[in-house]
Amino acid sequence: MDSTIKNPRHVAVIMDGNGRWATKRGLPRVQGHRAGVLALREIVKHSRKIGLEYLTLYAFSTENWKRPPQEIKNLMNLLVEYLKSEINDLKANNVSIRILGDISPLHAAVITQLNKAVEETAANNGLILCVAINYGGRDEIIRAVKGIVRDINAGKACIEDIDHSFFEGYLDTKGIPHPDLVIRPSGEFRISNFLLWQIAYSELWFSNCYWPDFTARMFEKALEDYAKRDRRYGGVNSVD
Ligand code: FPP
Repeated sequence: MDSTIKNPRHVAVIMDGNGRWATKRGLPRVQGHRAGVLALREIVKHSRKIGLEYLTLYAFSTENWKRPPQEIKNLMNLLVEYLKSEINDLKANNVSIRILGDISPLHAAVITQLNKAVEETAANNGLILCVAINYGGRDEIIRAVKGIVRDINAGKACIEDIDHSFFEGYLDTKGIPHPDLVIRPSGEFRISNFLLWQIAYSELWFSNCYWPDFTARMFEKALEDYAKRDRRYGGVNSVD
C-alpha cells in the first residue's frame, strides 16, 4: 500500500456469500465456508503485510443460530480448525486474537480453542485480529447496559459517569478504535447487526463478489477508495 495515502487503522469485514458461492457451483454450502476460510487467510496475510492495526471478521452472528444444526456445526468446526492450523503462524507473525461476542453458549471445545488462541497471542503487538462469534450489535449493547446497571447497583459507578467513552468501556471492543472501513461483499447492502455502535461514522464499501472470490487486490481497491473518502463526522471540511 502506498504510504502517502490515508490508511485505515481498523477494517471490519462481513464475509458474506459463502453459501451462494457453493450453490452456484453445485457444491454443499460447507464448501463455500471452506473457500471462505482460504479468502480470509489471504486477507489476514495482506493486512499484516500492509501494517493494518485491526482487522475484524464477522464469523458467526447471534442470528446465525437460525441455520440448520449441521451448518452451525460445520462453521464451528471450521473455526476450531482454522485456529488450530493457524495458531503457530499467527504467533510467529505477531498477530493477537481478540474475540467479540458472547462465547458462553458455544460448545466447550470451541470455547477452549478460542481462549487458547487469545491467551497464546495476548503478548503480540502486531495486527489485532478480532473474530466476532456469536456476535450481534444489539446483543453487545444489551450486555453493556446490563454491565453498567450491575456496576451502578454495586456502587462502583453512578448515572453521571455515563458518557460515550464510559459506555464503550462495557462493549466487547473496549480499547479498540472504531472501524474506519466496513467491507461487505456478496451484493448485499446492509449491516446485519454488525458493530452497530462502533460503525456510526465508518466508511462502507460494497462489492458484488462472493466472499470466497475476494482477493488481496480487491482489498487494496477498497483501501484505495477509502483513501479518497472525505470523512467529516458531521462537521464541515476546512476548505469548504
Ligand atoms: C456468510 O456467508 C458467512 C458466514 C455466516 C460464516 C463465515 C465463516 C467463515 C468464513 C468460516 C469460519 C470463520 C473463521 C474466522 C475461521 P453465507 O453463508 O451467509 O452466504 P450466503 O448469504 O451466500 O448464504
